Amino acid sequence: MKHRVSLTQYLVEKQREDGHIPGQLRLLIEVVARACKRIAISVNKGALGDVLGSADSENVQGEVQKKLDVIANEVLVEANEWGGHLAAMASEEMDHIHVVPNRYPQGEYLLLFDPLDGSSNIEVNVSIGTIFSVLRKVGHTRGVEEGDFLQPGRQQAAAGYCVYGPQTTLVLTVGDGVAMFTLDRETGSWVQTADGVTIPEDTREFAINMSNQRHWAPPVQRYIEECLAGKEGPRGKDFNMRWVASMVADVHRILSRGGIFMYPWDKREPDKPGKLRLMYEANPMSFIVEQAGGAATNGRERILDIAPRRLHERVSVVLGSKNEVRRVTEYHAAEADSKTAAA
Ligand code: AHG
Ligand code: MN
Ligand code: MN
Repeated sequence: MKHRVSLTQYLVEKQREDGHIPGQLRLLIEVVARACKRIAISVNKGALGDVLGSADSENVQGEVQKKLDVIANEVLVEANEWGGHLAAMASEEMDHIHVVPNRYPQGEYLLLFDPLDGSSNIEVNVSIGTIFSVLRKVGHTRGVEEGDFLQPGRQQAAAGYCVYGPQTTLVLTVGDGVAMFTLDRETGSWVQTADGVTIPEDTREFAINMSNQRHWAPPVQRYIEECLAGKEGPRGKDFNMRWVASMVADVHRILSRGGIFMYPWDKREPDKPGKLRLMYEANPMSFIVEQAGGAATNGRERILDIAPRRLHERVSVVLGSKNEVRRVTEYHAAEADSKTAAA
């Protein structure tokens, strides 16, 4: 019988090999993966369970919460608070950080998550997911506060996401490459199905919400116009387009076959840097994408180098195949240079 490597074995070996994963981090990842299994069960129930539709509440960003946003958040909080591996959690769906209650021991890690990504796809039975990011609590030893979370993404100890799609897949990095695990529903275990995942440097596929085209900044307009011009245009090749409207699904496709994903700033709300959230979406996905040989910027700088100022901060996102991300970033720099020259 072919030996199948489970998530547990993968993590134990990582811990043993080079001490790369301390015991607490291994436990944390296993607990998150177990919580994702529980979320997958709720997702799969669909109309048979009380999981569809709105929860009749709003999150801190003013978005209407779906029942599954709330369920997934509760599952993650409940699963993670008692194990002794965490100091606190932060979520897209919680206004403030959730400090591990006094009745449990406090660990040294901080966990951040987007409990349910792609909420608009729940009712239409399209792939959705969970995204998570792990930081170490650094500095002072007593207590934990929101400021402890405001670390640049390059300091993440681990990041991952789970896609609830035709298959339930967990994608993980602990900072030495990217591995994938598929949920075997018969045995209930995560089985490793890919390791050393790499994103091709070049691509002919882009992902962007085209309905916002007229609101984009000139560098993004330029890049997409050139893609759309195809073989006859400056790029000399035809491009394909995909937009799932679940970041997990779009990023998963990019990890599987390359591509570029963009959710750029747009001029309707000039003071808002973008739609996606730095701490719960952009940072974990950028860490994974870079670990797979891709790149991630906000059009100007590397996302993982951004010093966050607020927990629920938003950011423009350009990520995926390295050479395309570089091109978009260069177009932004060229625009900035021409503005300086004109001034
Ligand atoms: P969430 O469901 O966590 O709010 O995230 C949705 C995000 C992201 O997953 C996706 O790429 C994007 O919003 C879709 O936005 P549009 O509906 O504007 O296309
Ligand atoms: Mn999301
Ligand atoms: Mn969400």
